[in-house]
Amino acid sequence: MVARTRTTPTPLFQVVAFLFQFTFLAAFALAQNTTHLNITAIGAAGGRSTIECWQITRPFDISADPGTAGTKAQQLGDTTNLTFTILPPKFDGGLHHAPAVQYVAFTSGLAVVTLPDSEDKATIHGGKYGLIIAADIASVSKKGHVTRYPSGSTTTALQIRMKDNTPPAHTILHKGACRREELVGL
Ligand SMILES: *[C@@H]1O[C@H](CO)[C@@H](O)[C@H](O)[C@H]1NC(C)=O
Ligand SMILES: *[C@@H]1O[C@H](CO)[C@@H](O)[C@H](O)[C@H]1NC(C)=O
Ligand SMILES: *[C@@H]1O[C@H](CO)[C@@H](O)[C@H](O)[C@H]1NC(C)=O
Repeated sequence: MVARTRTTPTPLFQVVAFLFQFTFLAAFALAQNTTHLNITAIGAAGGRSTIECWQITRPFDISADPGTAGTKAQQLGDTTNLTFTILPPKFDGGLHHAPAVQYVAFTSGLAVVTLPDSEDKATIHGGKYGLIIAADIASVSKKGHVTRYPSGSTTTALQIRMKDNTPPAHTILHKGACRREELVGL
């Protein structure tokens, strides 16, 4: 007599559970290795300029270029035009639009961005965390933003225009400038 073997649901369940766990752990390991750049942005919503903290969607890559091979490298999109700007001590840039969608990399000094209709403010120190993006061009913001340079020394910056005024793919982490802990996690 042939014994009827009954497949209990346990093995299948265990396989599914194992796969689920494996996927979860792999995703976790991958997430652990994935670093995203967060960047203070002057954006626009409903015709008004905003200050926001953006997270660049593409994570850091590991560079394969000579001289930097093996180190973290963030691709920031296609750019067209680079201008080196020197702002005198206490310069007041006044109310203005971003002339184009552009990165501004403050390399020294201090810049303070305020908005005409909001209390939001961004204070950017030149140096390692001095990269912002300005995207409130006239077609999306009625008034723009105000930039002042309150430092007693010159502020230097590179203005880097994006091709076709297209900002990099990003998500908005929150309203207001990126906080220190959102910049230092490299
Ligand atoms: C994470 O990075 C470490 C060290 O660079 C590497 O050994 C590991 O394989 C990476 N893990 C994943 C899931 O990419
Ligand atoms: C490059 O930037 C300068 C200074 O802002 C501007 O006058 C010029 O029109 C720009 N050129 C291009 C090709 O966007
Ligand atoms: C960007 O923000 C996320 C979420 O707050 C954080 O986990 C990550 O470490 C930040 N990235 C950097 C480079 O600080």
